[in-house]
Amino acid sequence: MDKSKLEALLKDMSLTEKIEQLVQLHGNFFGGGEKLTGPEAEFDLPEDFPYRTGSVLGERGAEKLHKLQDEIMAKQPHHIPAVFMTDVIHGYETAFPVPIAIGSSFDPKLAEELASAAALEASAAGIHVTFSPMVDVARDSRWGRCMESTGEDPWLNGQFAAAMVKGFQGDDYGKKGKVASCAKHFAAYGAVQSGRDYNVTEISERTLFEDYLPPYKAAVDAGVSMVMTAFNTIDRVPCTINKRLMRDILRKKWGFEGVLITDYGAINESIIHGASEDKKDAARKAIEAGCDVDMVTDCYARYLEELVNEGTVPESLVDEAVMRLLELKNRLGLFENPYKDGSDESEKKYCFCKEHRELSRKAAEECTVLLKNNGVLPLSGKEKIAIIGALADDKEITGTWALFACKEKTVTLKEAFEQLYPKADITYVISDSDTESAVSAAKAADVVILALGENENYTGESRSRADISLFKEQKELFSKVYEANKNIVTVLFGGRPLAVPDEAEKSAAMLEAWLPGSCGCYAVADILFGKVNPSGRLSMSMPYCSGQLPISYSAYSTGRPKPDGAKGFIPFLSNYMDVPNVPLYPFGHGLSYSDIEYSAVRLDKAEMTADDKITASVTVKNNGSMPAWEAVQLYIRDIKASVVRPMKQLKGLQKISLAPNEEKTVSFEISGEMLSFYDINMEFKPEKGKFTLWIGGSSLTENSADFELI
Ligand code: GLC
Repeated sequence: MDKSKLEALLKDMSLTEKIEQLVQLHGNFFGGGEKLTGPEAEFDLPEDFPYRTGSVLGERGAEKLHKLQDEIMAKQPHHIPAVFMTDVIHGYETAFPVPIAIGSSFDPKLAEELASAAALEASAAGIHVTFSPMVDVARDSRWGRCMESTGEDPWLNGQFAAAMVKGFQGDDYGKKGKVASCAKHFAAYGAVQSGRDYNVTEISERTLFEDYLPPYKAAVDAGVSMVMTAFNTIDRVPCTINKRLMRDILRKKWGFEGVLITDYGAINESIIHGASEDKKDAARKAIEAGCDVDMVTDCYARYLEELVNEGTVPESLVDEAVMRLLELKNRLGLFENPYKDGSDESEKKYCFCKEHRELSRKAAEECTVLLKNNGVLPLSGKEKIAIIGALADDKEITGTWALFACKEKTVTLKEAFEQLYPKADITYVISDSDTESAVSAAKAADVVILALGENENYTGESRSRADISLFKEQKELFSKVYEANKNIVTVLFGGRPLAVPDEAEKSAAMLEAWLPGSCGCYAVADILFGKVNPSGRLSMSMPYCSGQLPISYSAYSTGRPKPDGAKGFIPFLSNYMDVPNVPLYPFGHGLSYSDIEYSAVRLDKAEMTADDKITASVTVKNNGSMPAWEAVQLYIRDIKASVVRPMKQLKGLQKISLAPNEEKTVSFEISGEMLSFYDINMEFKPEKGKFTLWIGGSSLTENSADFELI
C-alpha cells in the first residue's frame, strides 16, 4: 500500500481505534490459553478488546495465526491486520546454540546464517517479527541474561547485531522467509547493579556512550525495524519513560524511524520504580518519551484517549506512533497478504529440517571453547571412558529461549556418543549425587568426562545468581572423582561463564559447551574425539569468582596498576588480597588442536592523520595436521588522552580457515574513526598521540606495534 493510502487510513481512524493499535497483548487474552493472573487479570477490558489491538505477543503456528488474523481483521473497524511478534532468539523449532555461545564463535557470518534459518522457520509458522537480536553488553555473569547476549565487547556485539538483523530481515523483510527484527533492550540492561535482573544501573554518560550504546547503534545502522525498551533505569530514569534516551538519542541523534515497543509490562513498572504517579501518568510519560507500543499493560488502553481529549497529550504523538506501526505492517506486506508466509506446508518443510539440524551442529562446532588441554585431548577412541554427571544426558541444554524447540528431540551428550562413537568403551553415570558409582567408574577408566555446570533453568531472564561457582553437589562430585582419577576432561554446560578455578586447575582439559542447542552435542563429541578442531573464543571473560564482577578485558590502568603477570597480593597497588585481578580465562581465549603461529605485526607506516589510514598485517600459519579456524583479533590502545582510555579495545576481527601448514596474510586498516572516542567534552573524535595495536588469537596477545596519530 503506498504512503498516501496509509495516511488516508490513519486519517479515517477514530482516536479509539488508533490507540487500540498501540496495545500488544498475548494469546491468553484471546481466550483458549491459561487463565489471566496477576495485574493482567485486573485489566477488565471489554471481551472483544484484544481483537482490536494492533499486535499480538507470543503466538505461533500457521493455522492458528491464520484463524486469529481472520478473527482480528473481522473485528477491526478498518480490518487492519495484526502483526504477530515473538521471541525467536536462538532458533525457532531448530534450536541453535544460545547467543553467548554464538558470540564465542567470533563469527558474525555464522550468526547471520543462523538468524536467516530461524527466520525461515518462524515466518513459515506465521510469525512476522522477532524480538531479537538482544545486543546488551554483558560483563557480569551473575546476570542470568548474559546467556542472551553475544558478550562483553561493544564492538563485537555490534558486529553480531548487524549480522543478525541482516539474517532475520534480508534486504527486505516483506520477502518470503524473512521477519522484521527488534534490537533489545534499550539501553544498558547488561549494566544492572550487582548483576541482579531488573535492577537500576549506575553508569556515567561516557560509559553509556562508549561501552553500552554502540551495539544498538550498529543494529539501527543495519536497518533494524524495531527497538525494545529495557526494564532498568538510566541516570535514575526508567528507560521506558526516558525521553532523552529515546527521543534525543535513538530518534534524533541516530535517526531511528522504526517502531519502539516497551518490554513486558514496563510502562506500568515505571510506577513501581517510583517514577510515575499512576497508570495515567505512566501512559503520558511513555508516549511523550516515544514508546509506540505498550506491551501487556492497560495504561495506553485505559488512559491515552483521556490524555488526548483533555489536551494533555497532543493527538499528533498518537498519530506518529500509529503511523510507524502501520508502516511496519505495510513493509511486511500484511495489507496485501495478512498471513505473510504462514502455511502448514512451509512449516512442515522448514521447521526442524535436516539442513537446520546440521546447521545447529556446525554452529556448535564453532561456538564450543577449548579452555584448557594438557594433551589429553583429542581422545583416540581407544580409551576406557567414564562419562559422569546429570548434564551428560539432560535435554534441558537446548537453551533458555528455545521456546518453540522440539526439546524431546534435542541430542544429549550421551546420545551423541552412542550415535557417533558406538564402538567407544564408555561407562555412563548420569547423576551428580551417585558418587559411589561415579568413583567406581572413574577408578576403572583411563579418562573421565565430567559434565558439569547449569542447564537452561539456571540462566536467562530473572536467573541472577550471586555465587556463580558450581553447585555444591557438583563440587563434591568433582572432588570424589578427582581422588579416583586425575585424568578429567570437564565439559561445562550453561549460559554464563562460571567461576571454576579449582576445577580448572585440577582438570586435564576443560571445554565450554554452553547450551548448544538441538544438535550441538554432536559437535562436543566430535571435538572430544578430534574429528573437529575447536575454534571457539570466549566472548565473555570467565571470572575467578563472583567478587571479581563485573569484569572485562577492556580494563583501565588505574593510577596504581599491578604489573602484568605479577603473582600474589602487592600492597598499595590496585589488586585484591585473595584473588588475581585477571579473570580465570579472558575474553578472546580459546585453544585449538593446532599450533597457530603469528608473525610479528607489520605496519605500512608508523604515523597517520585522522583522515588517513595505516595498514597493519600479520601472517598466520597453521602448523598443525588438522584444518583449523582462527579468529584473528585486532586490539588498540590510546596511550594518553583527555580522559582515561581502556588498556585494550577490540577493533577488528577476521575469522579465517587454515588447511594444515597453510599460511595466510591478514590485514586491518586503522582509521581515524577507529581511534575516535568521547573526549573530555563528550565530542566523538580521535586525539593526536601515541597508540599501540596488537594482532593475535586472544586479548592476551603480546604481538604489538606502535604508531602515532599526528
Ligand atoms: C520479556 C523479556 C523480553 C521479551 C519480552 C517478550 O520480559 O524481557 O526480552 O522479548 O518479555 O516476551
